Amino acid sequence: MKTLQTTLADAQKNGLDSALTELILALSETCKAISAKVARGAMAGVLGAAGTENVQGEDQKKLDVITNDMLLEDLAKTGVVAAMASEELDEISPVPEAGNAPYLVLFDPLDGSSNIDVNVSIGTIFSVLKRPEGALCEASFLQAGTSQVAAGYVVYGPQTQLVMTTGSGVHGFTLDPATGIFVLTNPSMKISSQTKEFAINMSNRRHWYSPIQRYIEELLEGKTGKRGKDFNMRWIASMVADVHRILNRGGIFMYPADARDPDKPGKLRLMYEANPMSFLVEQAGGASTNGRMRIMEIAPEKLHQRCAVVLGSEEEVKLVTGYHQQ
Ligand code: AHG
Ligand code: MN
Ligand code: MN
Repeated sequence: MKTLQTTLADAQKNGLDSALTELILALSETCKAISAKVARGAMAGVLGAAGTENVQGEDQKKLDVITNDMLLEDLAKTGVVAAMASEELDEISPVPEAGNAPYLVLFDPLDGSSNIDVNVSIGTIFSVLKRPEGALCEASFLQAGTSQVAAGYVVYGPQTQLVMTTGSGVHGFTLDPATGIFVLTNPSMKISSQTKEFAINMSNRRHWYSPIQRYIEELLEGKTGKRGKDFNMRWIASMVADVHRILNRGGIFMYPADARDPDKPGKLRLMYEANPMSFLVEQAGGASTNGRMRIMEIAPEKLHQRCAVVLGSEEEVKLVTGYHQQ
Protein backbone atom coordinates (compact mmCIF):
# COMPACT_ATOMS: atom_id res chain seq x y z
CA MET A 1 0.00 0.00 0.00
CA LYS A 2 1.41 3.37 -1.03
CA THR A 3 0.76 6.35 1.19
CA LEU A 4 1.45 10.07 1.00
CA GLN A 5 4.57 9.48 3.06
CA THR A 6 6.00 6.69 0.89
CA THR A 7 5.04 8.49 -2.34
CA LEU A 8 6.93 11.59 -1.19
CA ALA A 9 9.86 9.45 -0.06
CA ASP A 10 10.04 7.94 -3.57
CA ALA A 11 9.82 11.40 -5.12
CA GLN A 12 12.66 12.50 -2.86
CA LYS A 13 14.83 9.72 -4.28
CA ASN A 14 14.07 11.24 -7.70
CA GLY A 15 15.21 14.68 -6.59
CA LEU A 16 12.30 16.24 -4.71
CA ASP A 17 13.68 18.64 -2.11
CA SER A 18 13.44 17.27 1.45
CA ALA A 19 12.26 20.64 2.81
CA LEU A 20 9.39 20.61 0.32
CA THR A 21 8.51 17.08 1.44
CA GLU A 22 8.41 18.30 5.02
CA LEU A 23 6.21 21.22 4.04
CA ILE A 24 3.67 19.02 2.23
CA LEU A 25 3.55 16.55 5.11
CA ALA A 26 2.96 19.38 7.59
CA LEU A 27 0.18 20.75 5.40
CA SER A 28 -1.41 17.32 5.21
CA GLU A 29 -1.38 17.05 9.01
CA THR A 30 -3.14 20.40 9.40
CA CYS A 31 -5.72 19.38 6.81
CA LYS A 32 -6.35 16.17 8.77
CA ALA A 33 -7.12 18.32 11.81
CA ILE A 34 -9.36 20.56 9.67
CA SER A 35 -11.11 17.47 8.34
CA ALA A 36 -11.84 16.31 11.89
CA LYS A 37 -13.34 19.69 12.81
CA VAL A 38 -15.42 19.77 9.63
CA ALA A 39 -16.72 16.27 10.36
CA ARG A 40 -17.82 17.26 13.88
CA GLY A 41 -19.55 20.38 12.52
CA ALA A 42 -21.87 21.95 15.04
CA MET A 43 -20.34 19.88 17.86
CA ALA A 44 -16.93 21.44 17.16
CA GLY A 45 -18.48 24.92 17.09
CA VAL A 46 -17.17 25.61 13.59
CA LEU A 47 -20.40 26.43 11.75
CA GLY A 48 -21.91 29.85 11.15
CA ALA A 49 -20.69 33.37 10.54
CA ALA A 50 -17.63 34.92 12.16
CA GLY A 51 -19.16 38.39 12.01
CA THR A 52 -16.11 39.84 10.24
CA GLU A 53 -15.14 40.74 6.67
CA ASN A 54 -11.99 39.80 4.72
CA VAL A 55 -9.89 42.06 2.47
CA GLN A 56 -12.18 41.25 -0.47
CA GLY A 57 -15.17 42.59 1.48
CA GLU A 58 -16.67 39.10 1.83
CA ASP A 59 -18.34 38.01 5.08
CA GLN A 60 -16.12 35.50 6.84
CA LYS A 61 -17.44 32.23 8.19
CA LYS A 62 -16.10 30.87 11.46
CA LEU A 63 -14.39 28.10 9.53
CA ASP A 64 -12.62 30.59 7.21
CA VAL A 65 -10.98 32.15 10.27
CA ILE A 66 -10.29 28.91 12.18
CA THR A 67 -8.64 27.13 9.22
CA ASN A 68 -6.62 30.22 8.33
CA ASP A 69 -5.20 30.38 11.88
CA MET A 70 -4.47 26.64 11.95
CA LEU A 71 -2.48 26.79 8.71
CA LEU A 72 -0.56 29.92 9.76
CA GLU A 73 0.38 28.40 13.09
CA ASP A 74 1.37 24.95 11.84
CA LEU A 75 3.30 26.05 8.76
CA ALA A 76 5.26 28.64 10.77
CA LYS A 77 6.52 25.78 12.96
CA THR A 78 8.00 23.79 10.06
CA GLY A 79 11.06 26.04 9.74
CA VAL A 80 10.93 25.70 5.94
CA VAL A 81 8.33 28.42 5.30
CA ALA A 82 9.60 32.01 5.18
CA ALA A 83 6.21 33.66 4.74
CA MET A 84 2.60 32.97 3.91
CA ALA A 85 -0.21 34.74 2.09
CA SER A 86 -3.88 33.90 2.43
CA GLU A 87 -7.18 34.83 0.87
CA GLU A 88 -8.30 35.71 4.39
CA LEU A 89 -5.38 38.04 5.29
CA ASP A 90 -4.94 41.65 4.15
CA GLU A 91 -1.17 41.36 4.10
CA ILE A 92 1.51 38.70 3.92
CA SER A 93 2.44 36.85 7.11
CA PRO A 94 6.24 36.52 7.45
CA VAL A 95 7.83 33.97 9.80
CA PRO A 96 10.80 35.90 11.23
CA GLU A 97 12.07 32.94 13.27
CA ALA A 98 12.34 30.85 10.09
CA GLY A 99 15.34 32.92 8.97
CA ASN A 100 16.31 32.06 5.42
CA ALA A 101 13.67 29.36 4.96
CA PRO A 102 13.33 28.37 1.29
CA TYR A 103 9.56 28.48 0.62
CA LEU A 104 6.53 30.75 0.44
CA VAL A 105 3.03 29.28 0.80
CA LEU A 106 -0.22 30.79 -0.45
CA PHE A 107 -3.59 29.35 0.50
CA ASP A 108 -7.33 29.57 0.32
CA PRO A 109 -7.83 28.00 3.76
CA LEU A 110 -11.46 27.20 3.20
CA ASP A 111 -12.87 27.12 -0.30
CA GLY A 112 -16.62 26.94 -0.78
CA SER A 113 -17.69 28.99 2.24
CA SER A 114 -21.31 29.06 1.09
CA ASN A 115 -21.41 25.26 1.44
CA ILE A 116 -20.06 24.92 5.00
CA ASP A 117 -23.34 25.24 6.83
CA VAL A 118 -25.26 22.98 4.43
CA ASN A 119 -22.93 19.96 4.59
CA VAL A 120 -21.71 20.10 1.00
CA SER A 121 -18.06 19.48 0.00
CA ILE A 122 -15.55 22.22 0.81
CA GLY A 123 -11.76 22.32 0.68
CA THR A 124 -8.34 23.88 1.26
CA ILE A 125 -6.21 25.01 -1.71
CA PHE A 126 -2.44 25.62 -1.55
CA SER A 127 0.36 26.88 -3.76
CA VAL A 128 4.09 26.76 -2.96
CA LEU A 129 6.71 29.14 -4.40
CA LYS A 130 10.44 29.47 -3.86
CA ARG A 131 11.44 32.40 -1.72
CA PRO A 132 13.30 34.87 -3.94
CA GLU A 133 16.54 36.56 -2.84
CA GLY A 134 16.32 39.76 -0.82
CA ALA A 135 14.00 41.17 1.83
CA LEU A 136 10.57 39.59 2.09
CA CYS A 137 7.63 41.69 0.98
CA GLU A 138 4.43 41.37 -1.01
CA ALA A 139 6.46 41.52 -4.25
CA SER A 140 8.26 38.30 -3.23
CA PHE A 141 4.94 36.52 -3.84
CA LEU A 142 4.16 38.10 -7.21
CA GLN A 143 5.52 35.22 -9.28
CA ALA A 144 3.74 33.69 -12.26
CA GLY A 145 2.01 30.34 -11.79
CA THR A 146 4.72 28.67 -13.86
CA SER A 147 7.06 29.26 -10.88
CA GLN A 148 5.01 27.08 -8.51
CA VAL A 149 7.01 24.14 -7.13
CA ALA A 150 3.95 22.42 -5.66
CA ALA A 151 0.21 22.91 -5.54
CA GLY A 152 -2.84 21.00 -4.47
CA TYR A 153 -6.00 20.85 -2.46
CA VAL A 154 -7.72 18.82 0.19
CA VAL A 155 -11.41 18.22 -0.38
CA TYR A 156 -13.59 17.56 2.68
CA GLY A 157 -16.41 15.53 1.17
CA PRO A 158 -17.88 12.05 1.61
CA GLN A 159 -14.17 11.22 1.74
CA THR A 160 -11.33 13.56 2.62
CA GLN A 161 -8.87 13.49 -0.27
CA LEU A 162 -5.58 15.24 -0.89
CA VAL A 163 -4.69 15.88 -4.53
CA MET A 164 -1.33 17.38 -5.34
CA THR A 165 1.45 17.93 -7.82
CA THR A 166 5.12 18.77 -7.53
CA GLY A 167 5.43 19.03 -11.30
CA SER A 168 5.52 15.34 -12.18
CA GLY A 169 1.90 14.35 -12.51
CA VAL A 170 -1.10 14.60 -10.20
CA HIS A 171 -1.68 12.13 -7.40
CA GLY A 172 -4.73 11.67 -5.20
CA PHE A 173 -4.76 10.29 -1.65
CA THR A 174 -7.75 9.30 0.46
CA LEU A 175 -7.65 9.83 4.22
CA ASP A 176 -8.40 6.53 5.95
CA PRO A 177 -10.41 7.62 8.99
CA ALA A 178 -9.52 4.35 10.73
CA THR A 179 -5.76 4.96 10.65
CA GLY A 180 -5.39 8.69 9.92
CA ILE A 181 -3.18 7.85 6.92
CA PHE A 182 -3.47 9.39 3.45
CA VAL A 183 -3.46 6.37 1.11
CA LEU A 184 -2.57 6.70 -2.59
CA THR A 185 -5.87 5.85 -4.27
CA ASN A 186 -5.67 7.91 -7.49
CA PRO A 187 -2.16 7.77 -8.97
CA SER A 188 -1.39 9.77 -12.14
CA MET A 189 -4.78 11.42 -12.57
CA LYS A 190 -5.61 12.39 -16.17
CA ILE A 191 -8.31 14.65 -17.59
CA SER A 192 -9.90 13.37 -20.80
CA SER A 193 -9.50 15.87 -23.64
CA GLN A 194 -13.20 15.65 -24.59
CA THR A 195 -16.25 15.98 -22.38
CA LYS A 196 -20.04 16.35 -22.29
CA GLU A 197 -20.17 18.14 -18.95
CA PHE A 198 -19.79 21.83 -18.10
CA ALA A 199 -19.78 23.88 -14.90
CA ILE A 200 -20.73 27.55 -14.71
CA ASN A 201 -22.96 29.66 -12.49
CA MET A 202 -25.83 30.12 -14.98
CA SER A 203 -27.47 32.82 -12.83
CA ASN A 204 -24.80 35.24 -14.10
CA ARG A 205 -25.78 34.66 -17.72
CA ARG A 206 -27.09 38.18 -18.37
CA HIS A 207 -23.72 39.66 -17.30
CA TRP A 208 -21.45 37.50 -19.52
CA TYR A 209 -19.56 38.84 -22.51
CA SER A 210 -20.38 37.50 -25.97
CA PRO A 211 -17.77 34.67 -26.27
CA ILE A 212 -19.17 32.92 -23.17
CA GLN A 213 -22.79 33.64 -24.24
CA ARG A 214 -22.05 32.02 -27.59
CA TYR A 215 -20.25 28.99 -26.14
CA ILE A 216 -22.94 28.17 -23.56
CA GLU A 217 -25.73 28.71 -26.08
CA GLU A 218 -24.11 26.15 -28.36
CA LEU A 219 -23.77 23.63 -25.51
CA LEU A 220 -27.44 24.08 -24.58
CA GLU A 221 -28.58 23.41 -28.16
CA GLY A 222 -27.56 19.79 -27.59
CA LYS A 223 -27.70 16.99 -30.15
CA THR A 224 -29.51 18.91 -32.87
CA GLY A 225 -27.32 22.01 -32.55
CA LYS A 226 -23.86 22.97 -33.74
CA ARG A 227 -22.07 20.68 -31.26
CA GLY A 228 -24.10 17.63 -32.21
CA LYS A 229 -24.21 16.22 -28.69
CA ASP A 230 -26.09 16.73 -25.42
CA PHE A 231 -24.22 18.37 -22.55
CA ASN A 232 -24.89 17.94 -18.86
CA MET A 233 -24.36 20.68 -16.26
CA ARG A 234 -22.97 20.57 -12.70
CA TRP A 235 -22.24 23.50 -10.35
CA ILE A 236 -21.26 22.74 -6.75
CA ALA A 237 -20.12 26.30 -5.90
CA SER A 238 -16.97 24.91 -4.27
CA MET A 239 -14.18 25.21 -6.81
CA VAL A 240 -12.34 22.39 -5.05
CA ALA A 241 -15.24 20.00 -5.56
CA ASP A 242 -15.90 21.08 -9.15
CA VAL A 243 -12.22 20.70 -10.10
CA HIS A 244 -12.07 17.37 -8.26
CA ARG A 245 -14.91 16.06 -10.42
CA ILE A 246 -13.14 17.27 -13.56
CA LEU A 247 -9.88 15.57 -12.54
CA ASN A 248 -11.84 12.35 -12.13
CA ARG A 249 -14.20 12.32 -15.10
CA GLY A 250 -13.41 15.33 -17.27
CA GLY A 251 -15.42 18.48 -17.87
CA ILE A 252 -15.00 22.20 -18.25
CA PHE A 253 -15.22 24.73 -15.40
CA MET A 254 -15.73 28.44 -16.01
CA TYR A 255 -15.90 31.50 -13.82
CA PRO A 256 -15.61 34.11 -16.56
CA ALA A 257 -15.07 37.84 -16.34
CA ASP A 258 -18.37 39.64 -16.79
CA ALA A 259 -19.80 43.12 -17.26
CA ARG A 260 -20.58 43.77 -13.60
CA ASP A 261 -17.34 45.32 -12.34
CA PRO A 262 -14.53 46.05 -14.84
CA ASP A 263 -12.01 46.15 -11.94
CA LYS A 264 -12.78 42.52 -11.09
CA PRO A 265 -12.09 40.07 -13.91
CA GLY A 266 -14.20 37.27 -12.49
CA LYS A 267 -14.67 36.21 -8.89
CA LEU A 268 -11.82 33.82 -8.31
CA ARG A 269 -8.39 34.79 -7.08
CA LEU A 270 -5.29 34.29 -9.20
CA MET A 271 -2.84 33.43 -6.41
CA TYR A 272 -5.00 31.26 -4.13
CA GLU A 273 -7.34 29.53 -6.58
CA ALA A 274 -6.60 30.00 -10.28
CA ASN A 275 -2.85 29.31 -10.25
CA PRO A 276 -2.77 26.19 -8.05
CA MET A 277 -5.77 24.67 -9.86
CA SER A 278 -4.19 25.49 -13.24
CA PHE A 279 -0.97 23.73 -12.22
CA LEU A 280 -2.95 20.60 -11.27
CA VAL A 281 -5.11 20.67 -14.38
CA GLU A 282 -2.15 21.10 -16.74
CA GLN A 283 -0.22 18.37 -14.95
CA ALA A 284 -3.21 16.10 -15.54
CA GLY A 285 -3.20 16.85 -19.27
CA GLY A 286 -5.96 19.47 -19.23
CA ALA A 287 -5.78 23.16 -20.10
CA SER A 288 -6.40 26.37 -18.19
CA THR A 289 -6.82 29.92 -19.50
CA ASN A 290 -8.48 33.17 -18.51
CA GLY A 291 -10.26 33.05 -21.87
CA ARG A 292 -7.36 34.75 -23.60
CA MET A 293 -4.08 33.40 -22.27
CA ARG A 294 -2.63 30.61 -20.17
CA ILE A 295 -3.37 31.50 -16.53
CA MET A 296 0.03 30.28 -15.31
CA GLU A 297 1.76 32.86 -17.55
CA ILE A 298 -0.07 35.86 -16.09
CA ALA A 299 2.39 38.23 -14.37
CA PRO A 300 0.67 39.01 -11.05
CA GLU A 301 0.36 42.68 -10.10
CA LYS A 302 -1.40 42.34 -6.75
CA LEU A 303 -1.60 39.62 -4.12
CA HIS A 304 -5.40 39.57 -4.11
CA GLN A 305 -6.01 40.06 -7.82
CA ARG A 306 -8.96 38.35 -9.51
CA CYS A 307 -8.77 36.19 -12.56
CA ALA A 308 -11.25 34.80 -15.06
CA VAL A 309 -11.01 31.00 -15.17
CA VAL A 310 -11.69 28.50 -17.97
CA LEU A 311 -10.19 25.09 -17.17
CA GLY A 312 -10.54 21.37 -17.73
CA SER A 313 -10.81 19.15 -20.81
CA GLU A 314 -8.39 20.46 -23.41
CA GLU A 315 -10.63 20.54 -26.49
CA GLU A 316 -13.36 22.56 -24.76
CA VAL A 317 -10.92 25.02 -23.17
CA LYS A 318 -9.34 25.57 -26.59
CA LEU A 319 -12.75 26.22 -28.13
CA VAL A 320 -13.75 28.82 -25.51
CA THR A 321 -10.34 30.50 -25.71
CA GLY A 322 -10.64 30.57 -29.51
CA TYR A 323 -14.04 32.32 -29.24
CA HIS A 324 -12.39 35.07 -27.16
CA GLN A 325 -9.65 35.52 -29.74
CA GLN A 326 -12.08 35.90 -32.67
P1 AHG B 1 -14.44 31.02 -1.29
O1 AHG B 1 -15.43 30.26 -0.48
O2 AHG B 1 -13.02 30.66 -0.99
O3 AHG B 1 -14.70 32.51 -1.27
O4 AHG B 1 -14.57 30.58 -2.81
C1 AHG B 1 -15.81 30.35 -3.38
C2 AHG B 1 -15.64 30.37 -4.85
C3 AHG B 1 -15.41 29.03 -5.50
O5 AHG B 1 -15.12 28.00 -4.65
C4 AHG B 1 -16.68 28.73 -6.25
O6 AHG B 1 -16.41 28.13 -7.47
C5 AHG B 1 -17.32 30.06 -6.42
O7 AHG B 1 -16.82 30.90 -5.42
C6 AHG B 1 -18.82 30.01 -6.31
O8 AHG B 1 -19.32 31.23 -6.67
P2 AHG B 1 -20.89 31.52 -6.77
O9 AHG B 1 -21.37 31.64 -5.36
O10 AHG B 1 -20.95 32.82 -7.52
O11 AHG B 1 -21.53 30.38 -7.50
MN1 MN C 1 -12.15 29.84 -2.71
MN1 MN D 1 -11.95 30.76 0.91
